[in-house]
Amino acid sequence: MRNSTGRVGRNDPCPCGSGLKYKKCCLGKEAPEPMDIGKLYLDRYRIRLKKPEDVEGIRKAGQLVMETLRMVGPQIKPGIKTDFINTLVHDFTLDHGGIPAPLNYKGFPKSVCVSVNEVICHGIPGERMLEEGDIVNVDVTTILNGYYADANMTFFAGEPGPDARKVTSVARRSLDEGLSMVRPGNTIGDIGWAIQKYAEGEGCSVVREYTGHGVGLDFHEAPQVPHYGRRGHGVPLAPGMVFTVEPMINLGDKALYILSDNWTAVTRDGSLSAQFEQTILVTEEGCESLTPY
Ligand code: MF3
Ligand code: CO
Ligand code: CO
Repeated sequence: MRNSTGRVGRNDPCPCGSGLKYKKCCLGKEAPEPMDIGKLYLDRYRIRLKKPEDVEGIRKAGQLVMETLRMVGPQIKPGIKTDFINTLVHDFTLDHGGIPAPLNYKGFPKSVCVSVNEVICHGIPGERMLEEGDIVNVDVTTILNGYYADANMTFFAGEPGPDARKVTSVARRSLDEGLSMVRPGNTIGDIGWAIQKYAEGEGCSVVREYTGHGVGLDFHEAPQVPHYGRRGHGVPLAPGMVFTVEPMINLGDKALYILSDNWTAVTRDGSLSAQFEQTILVTEEGCESLTPY
């Protein structure tokens, strides 16, 4: 039954046939159920979109990670052992109420990864002494109030040579090329595509065996974020996603092998490798780094 406006009145019988008045039945219910994107991402991709309170917690963890990297940077010079960097990171983290996530993670024996020259990632701090011109990646992951943030930087010990400068500069810009793609409407594949295009265009190579990863409520969550790939492929980016972008860039070939400690990944050809990592939040407008340099 229609009123004079041609629309169903509030007190008219509901058009659904229930016999109830329209206002007691379907009024206001015709709009499709708003899609629960959180449930969709969890069911379809196993991705946990972060709530505002989660983001606040990850941001605080990220601030501690960045304070840690800023504390370590000036200490990196020829003549120190990589284990000294472990001591600095371990003590600083505990002093600020955090927990170093790497310690005992899947059996990792130290509190930070320190990867020198041809070491791509997961270097175990120890007796190796830094030498003039070494490139030194320090990868800090901190748990603060249950939230995880993960970031790394490649530093120079003393004055770098041209090869060291080149691979470090390409790795640094590779991170920014990846981040330039992070916004709703783009996909995970766009990030890797941009990194690969840039880094290979510079004559460097992109490591395939390790990827960025969801982070925040745990050390490694879905999705994986490859640093190579195809435009438009992979999971569509949605606000509330938090993941790392952490391209590992080799001056020579991308092939690697793992030392008998079962952690240290080194370039097969012995060439230099550099990396920069940040923890990134996808926002409505684009992205925000929760570990800004
Ligand atoms: N921080 C590294 C990453 O970026 C992971 C290190 S795992 C460890 O994902 F066990 F080596 F610490
Ligand atoms: Co990471
Ligand atoms: Co890391």
